[in-house]
Amino acid sequence: MKNFVFQNPTKLLFGRGAIERMRAEIPADKKLMVTFGGGSVRANGVYERVTRALEGLDYVEFWGIEPNPKVETVREAVAMCRREGVEFLLAVGGGSVLDATKLIAAAVHAGADAWELVRNPALLPEAILPFADVMTLPATGSEMNNGAVISNAATREKFAFYSRFPLFSVLDPEVTYSLPEYQIACGLADTFVHTVEQYLTVAGESPLMDRWAEGLLSTLVEVAPGAMAAEPDYDSRATYMLCATMALNGFIAMGVSQDWATHRIGHEITALHGVTHAQTLAVVLPAVMAELQEQKQDKLLQYAARVWGLCEGSRQERIDAAIARTGEFFRSLGLKTRLSELGIGRPTAEEIVRRFAERGTRLGEKANVDAAAVGRILERCL
Ligand code: NZQ
Ligand code: ZN
Repeated sequence: MKNFVFQNPTKLLFGRGAIERMRAEIPADKKLMVTFGGGSVRANGVYERVTRALEGLDYVEFWGIEPNPKVETVREAVAMCRREGVEFLLAVGGGSVLDATKLIAAAVHAGADAWELVRNPALLPEAILPFADVMTLPATGSEMNNGAVISNAATREKFAFYSRFPLFSVLDPEVTYSLPEYQIACGLADTFVHTVEQYLTVAGESPLMDRWAEGLLSTLVEVAPGAMAAEPDYDSRATYMLCATMALNGFIAMGVSQDWATHRIGHEITALHGVTHAQTLAVVLPAVMAELQEQKQDKLLQYAARVWGLCEGSRQERIDAAIARTGEFFRSLGLKTRLSELGIGRPTAEEIVRRFAERGTRLGEKANVDAAAVGRILERCL
């Protein structure tokens, strides 16, 4: 096991009626800004519930944070915060609204532009506004981590940055009832891939982390049909929601190697084509597994046995079957597993390879996935 430091300060308010219980957590003497996406919260009653919970408090609203939030939108919100003297932010929406809010919180008192903060963490100011959220889409884990992923429309780039954790997160599984089936599929796939990227690396580093990760993966496979059912089932939604949080809040990352190659390649596909985040992961993950099967073989065999019950056959047969089962799981959710199915071809793969070569990025748990390896991975995705 590697050395590690672990601290996660976010308070979770989980369950039915959690929105109604959040009032006690909000500093009553501070000027608030409530941030929203494109309007799903108006249709599903969340806006009304939040407004009631905030009655009597001094707040302004900022609307229009888009999926794959743009720095251009963040800049508008930062200007409004400065104009209004905002001291506390409440994000109400999916990962995109919360991620944008994390950058707004960091940029209000910064001496640098918001995009510079994303690209250069040394520029993050000490004075970052406190923020919290009502999470309406279980997927990103953003509700209990300090990461955010921001897009730049002008340069067609998408990068992660790391700042502060939410003060508290409100997780009411009932707010997921209005999610379209596609977003639930994406939420399940995103959670699955977050877990895999902290698990499918080096065997034997931590039996405890392995069992926790395998617990999440098996639970996701088990709960997926219930979570996707047209008639919402509270317990399935609650399990799915908690899985999403637990997959990316640091609890399964203690002392183990990580490999974020799938995410890094997926972000480029989204940056160039606007493809939904988890849809890119469903395409890229099986190809990463196949390309890196030699260095990951012990862990792939463990994954095959413990998550998919694949214990028969040669090592190669079990590895092949585990990779196939991964792709089948994504397809069972209704997601695509090929770039060609998304109308994306070789020119995009070449542009992504060019970007990685220019940046000199090396991915994977062994930092051996260079631009050429990214090219081979993308070739497998076509
Ligand atoms: O904008 P509104 O109208 O609210 O609609 C949203 C949006 O269109 C809708 N939605 C959200 N909750 C709903 C709902 N519709 C009906 N009922 C509800 N309860 O869903 C659409 C997608 O929302 P979005 O916030 O974009 O999805 P998600 O939560 O998957 O976030 C994706 C973003 O998070 C980043 C991704 O890269 C992407 O930019 N990620 C953030 C991470 C983090 N902070 O740690 C890690 C992840 O790996 C990921 O990269
Ligand atoms: Zn993700």
